[in-house]
Amino acid sequence: MIEFINIEKTYTSKQESFHALKNINLTINDHEILGVVGYSGAGKSTLIGLINKLIESTKGDVLIDGVSIHDLKQEDLNRMRYDLSMIFQHFNLVGNLTVYDNIKLALSIKKYPKEKIEKRIDEVLDLVGLLDKKHRYPKALSGGEKQRVGIARAIANHPKYLLCDEATSALDQKTAYEIVSLLKDIHEKTNLTIIFISHQIEIVKDLCDRVVVMDKGSIIEDQPTKSLFIDPKEDTTKKLIKQVIDEPVHLKDKHYYELIYAHDNVDDKILSSMVKTFDVDVNIVYAKTLSIHKELIGYLYIELFGSQIDDALTYLKSKEIKVRLYV
Ligand SMILES: Nc1ncnc2c1ncn2[C@@H]1O[C@H](COP(=O)(O)OP(=O)(O)OP(=O)(O)O)[C@@H](O)[C@H]1O
Ligand SMILES: [Mg+2]
Repeated sequence: MIEFINIEKTYTSKQESFHALKNINLTINDHEILGVVGYSGAGKSTLIGLINKLIESTKGDVLIDGVSIHDLKQEDLNRMRYDLSMIFQHFNLVGNLTVYDNIKLALSIKKYPKEKIEKRIDEVLDLVGLLDKKHRYPKALSGGEKQRVGIARAIANHPKYLLCDEATSALDQKTAYEIVSLLKDIHEKTNLTIIFISHQIEIVKDLCDRVVVMDKGSIIEDQPTKSLFIDPKEDTTKKLIKQVIDEPVHLKDKHYYELIYAHDNVDDKILSSMVKTFDVDVNIVYAKTLSIHKELIGYLYIELFGSQIDDALTYLKSKEIKVRLYV
């Protein structure tokens, strides 16, 4: 478990000081896949840097499995870092070492038992599907393959935590989704906790169990992924989610209602029984479903006409549908 307690971070230089993290309180539970999303400059990388103490907080504490990282001696900090592996946007492989030697170097630094290194490298390369490329140099690999090596290198010593900073942002969408499947597969087979920082909400939606939204150094929202998409509270979250809903522009000048609902909660006849029960007419202008971990969320945009619109809306809300008016 990783806990951030009352964290503040101010970057100071001779010229300026910048308040990058504000009153951060967050618990990351064992074996969850936590997404951290937010626009550029929100403080995501600063947050992840505090975990392995590459960045020092100005105030507050970070506890890893109950131990404060602030008071650790260098030697104990190094040992704790064995449990905290990282993958990066630009992979950070050592260019003049082969795939095999890149992983070997990481295992040696983390003091993995020498006699087990070779077997372990084969195991992780098999897991990421690159056993046949173990003697290649990074320049002879595609971006997706480089990130597979990055992942193999990160998990080789069986760490508890995998910190991912924009790990799929340099890849095309198809390759990014392949990396997502690989991370899910590894997560299922091991006890790994994954912290996945990204501005790609569509990737986070498919990978993460829970999502934290950051804005200007603060955590503004923290919800299970499905709830976040059904009931986003903050404008920044709504804007981020809109990236995957593609609300059509022709709705711009109309009064319409957005209905968001979990498919399993709602039966198909709701709209027709609403129309039969109340004096209202419906015009469906746009509809979309999103899948989140194999569950479907419906987004329906409708216009309503008639004398009993408020009653009809109350009826919809009583059926666990989130209703919002757009004007
Ligand atoms: N070393 C530094 N000195 C001064 N300011 C910094 C430093 N590092 C980061 N910042 C500032 O802190 C804020 C948060 O930066 P951070 O890198 O954590 O954002 P981010 O959410 O990861 O953004 P991105 O999505 O672009 O990677 C930014 O406004 C940035 O300019
Ligand atoms: Mg960043």
